[in-house]
Amino acid sequence: HMGIAITGSGSATPGAKLTNQGLSERVETSDEWISTRTGIKNRRVAGEGESLTAIATQAGLKAIEQAGISPTDLDLILLATSTPDDLFGNASQIQAALGAHQAVAFDLTAACSGFLFALVTAAQYIRTGTYQKVLVIGADLLSRWVNWSDRTTCVLFGDGAGAVVMEANREDRLLGFELKSDGTQNHCLQLAYQPKYEEIIPNLSVAQGTYQFITMNGKEVYRFAVQKVPEVIEKALFHAQISSDRVDWLILHQANQRILDAVAKRLNIPPDKVLSNLANYGNTSAASIPLVLDEAVRSGKIKPGDLIAASGFGAGLTWGSAIFRW
Ligand code: ACO
Repeated sequence: HMGIAITGSGSATPGAKLTNQGLSERVETSDEWISTRTGIKNRRVAGEGESLTAIATQAGLKAIEQAGISPTDLDLILLATSTPDDLFGNASQIQAALGAHQAVAFDLTAACSGFLFALVTAAQYIRTGTYQKVLVIGADLLSRWVNWSDRTTCVLFGDGAGAVVMEANREDRLLGFELKSDGTQNHCLQLAYQPKYEEIIPNLSVAQGTYQFITMNGKEVYRFAVQKVPEVIEKALFHAQISSDRVDWLILHQANQRILDAVAKRLNIPPDKVLSNLANYGNTSAASIPLVLDEAVRSGKIKPGDLIAASGFGAGLTWGSAIFRW
């Protein structure tokens, strides 16, 4: 079986900042409430002319550049998103924008776990020797589907994209993983299709609806995350035969600072090993893990050889963890 290494990372966010103060002009909330409950201060939102394809392509290009390869070297592009520009699939538009002529490209959806699920999926193609060079992108523009009149959800989310290049490598740096789903809890967090029935000929109706909006039971999602995330990380560490005290960086899906703190505490991982950029970007769904990873790589925090425990969790419900060396 082939070894696997992550050889580059990249990220991109839209230009417009939305502060807590700005939100308080729109809904009954305050910087104090949002900061103390979530750790979020700012988020980025895509405006006119900014597409998922554009920011995902930008993130992908940076990862390709850092890996020192060219887009035409790519065999596969996996796009994790819940907010595509095209429901038929968005990855092929990114393939075209990158000029990655050799690559097959497709979308994968697992909400805030999407990047982690895509990373593990990419790894299977590399392990088996099918593909050698894969671009994995996590990108979401949740501002498209947030109810901007619902203060319980609109303060949490932001837009962004992050990417990594994964390559076949002699030394295997992907040491273990574990993925989970529980559809019985789907109602906790949804971006569900809302049918609206139209009679197209007498006595025959079809659904002509749309998707709207994000609905969430915050307390249930919080409980789920704090219980299940430490368990799945421990499972992945077990597969990797590594104990939690050897972890250099804990990279959790950036949902809420209180979730990050509680998970780290349960795993006995000290706060200075927990990466967080919630204050600047909020919850960027599938983008959050590669976004915070890329920032830490580019600032020199994460160094070659560092051991990373990553975990994504969110709607589905879905959750998972991967253990890898940088
Ligand atoms: N501003 C001011 N007040 C608010 C706001 C707001 N933005 N939102 C809710 N409130 C009010 C509520 O109405 C409630 O008032 P009431 O007591 O008069 O009814 C009060 O604040 C407390 O509300 P709670 O929901 O109990 O607040 P809680 O402390 O549970 O925090 C939060 C809410 C931050 C959403 C928390 O439950 C949480 O973080 N849950 C996890 C959510 C999450 O991370 N989701 C995404 C993860 S998965 C994924 O990424 C897709």
